[in-house]
Amino acid sequence: MPEQTLQAMQKEQKKRSLSGIQPTNTPHLGNYLGAMKNWVTLAEKFDALYFIADLHSITLRMEPAALRKQTFESFVLLLAMGIDPEKSVVFVQSSVSAHSELCWLLNCYTQYGELSRMTQFKDKSQKYPENINAGLFTYPVLMASDILLYQADFVPVGADQKQHIEIARDIAMRFNGAYSETFKLPEPYFTKSTAKIMSLSEPLKKMSKSDQNLNATVFVLDDRDTIIKKFKRAVTDSEADISYHEEDKGKAGINNLISVYCAMTKKTVAETEHEWQGKGYGDFKIAVGELVADGLKGIQQRYQELSADKEYISSCMKKGAERAASIAHRTLKKAQKKIGLFQV
Ligand code: ADP
Ligand code: TRP
Repeated sequence: MPEQTLQAMQKEQKKRSLSGIQPTNTPHLGNYLGAMKNWVTLAEKFDALYFIADLHSITLRMEPAALRKQTFESFVLLLAMGIDPEKSVVFVQSSVSAHSELCWLLNCYTQYGELSRMTQFKDKSQKYPENINAGLFTYPVLMASDILLYQADFVPVGADQKQHIEIARDIAMRFNGAYSETFKLPEPYFTKSTAKIMSLSEPLKKMSKSDQNLNATVFVLDDRDTIIKKFKRAVTDSEADISYHEEDKGKAGINNLISVYCAMTKKTVAETEHEWQGKGYGDFKIAVGELVADGLKGIQQRYQELSADKEYISSCMKKGAERAASIAHRTLKKAQKKIGLFQV
């Protein structure tokens, strides 16, 4: 959805923004620029619910200690990025049982064929052939449940999640059609220029938490030197022209650096090209690295302060779970009733 429609959206009654992030690793620059920055902006204007999607992350094998640690870390990072836990509902997915309960109901309103067409399922089952579990297959149904439970209007995500939001809409329409209006149809919310931040080592692939190559991904808690080093090593091409060529696959590396530069400086592509005309890739890479390091510094400092106060974080998690559960439970009850499940 284009930025200009934000004002029009505000004029309507208060809408609801909802999204989630998996605690499979520390969030990275793609998560931040592609999704989480929008979470903060939308939370200032709308009712917002954001959660750590720990149930989704167990579709891949995770060390229990790492899952616990990364759930805590991702939760604290949300607050450090500027989500106010008093204003918005921030919670851990598994602490609200309605997600799993609605997921079972909606599994029965989702077709095998439509789940087989999901690109993320195809990618992940190819990548992890030893563990193609049923959860990986029905992952989009859990995601649909996450969204539909809260009657969300907007779902701020990166471009890779678009197909999952479409299937959530399809499931909602099918259910509403079979009974009567039960679930609101959600809309994805993207910022086009940052919807897909690419890997720094293989710029035709998206930046991802699970990349084995440590230079490919900039994590939001990386220190300044590491961030600059990763950008210095970013793969570009053999020319030396700092200009954006959307359709040219050979230019994916420099295109990506320009997108990050524009996101950090709020400059347009044309302004950036003009500013860097005649200059080399080497200086540009350092400049992008420094901007990212400076931009993340405040978040890192707040993260250090907040993560030291375990009691405060734990009270935020509890409050968030209670507030989320009370909304979610209402929708779950409504769906159970419509289906005809006996109300005891
Ligand atoms: P990952 O795919 O790296 O494991 P998640 O699946 O937890 O990350 O994604 C959290 C949010 O970040 C989602 O909205 C997703 O669309 C977005 N996202 C993930 N990778 C990128 C990227 N490289 N560029 C832009 N947004 C991204
Ligand atoms: N599937 C999302 C991802 O991998 C995470 C997620 C789970 C999510 N449930 C959600 C995002 C609901 C938005 C809304 O990035």
